Amino acid sequence: MILPIVSYGSPVLRQKCEAISSNYENLDILLADMWETMYNASGVGLAAPQINKSIRLFIVDSSPFYDDDKKDSLKKVFINPEILTEDGEEWVFNEGCLSIPGVREDVVRKSNITIKYQNENFVTITEKFDGVNARVIQHEYDHINGILFTDKVSTLKKKMIKGKLNDVTKGITPTDYRIKHFK
Ligand code: NI
Repeated sequence: MILPIVSYGSPVLRQKCEAISSNYENLDILLADMWETMYNASGVGLAAPQINKSIRLFIVDSSPFYDDDKKDSLKKVFINPEILTEDGEEWVFNEGCLSIPGVREDVVRKSNITIKYQNENFVTITEKFDGVNARVIQHEYDHINGILFTDKVSTLKKKMIKGKLNDVTKGITPTDYRIKHFK
């Protein structure tokens, strides 16, 4: 089932989400709904707060960034993740967010991460990622801590996108997927 995506201005996007346990009810249905919702909106990642659930869970499928070489792309569920290290070069990547339609900005982040997480079977895994895969994970990881990519742009850029963010908050930015703005 496609779920509405919560948009900028909603308090759930600003909460530090709660960890979940292996007996979390109907997790398989939630994950299926999240995949469907993300693909329907042509996203490469979706965090639970974006579908109005304040839990430490996100999904990633970076394959649209790997046109020729899909084997380097990443499709995974991350539950209760913890980024252990972030290092390597700082690099700029133009980010967007399904909760912030109509806004794209360059964001600087480090290139390499080590992350510990549980998969959909609650098996604990520690893994390293780099490049675009790391980037998508970093963006989604921020979501479960109440952080949005627009927080990470310069003061000048923040001023420049203020009007667009107000439009998203009011729910007047057009999208080709279902969005739910905070009233
Ligand atoms: Ni996002």
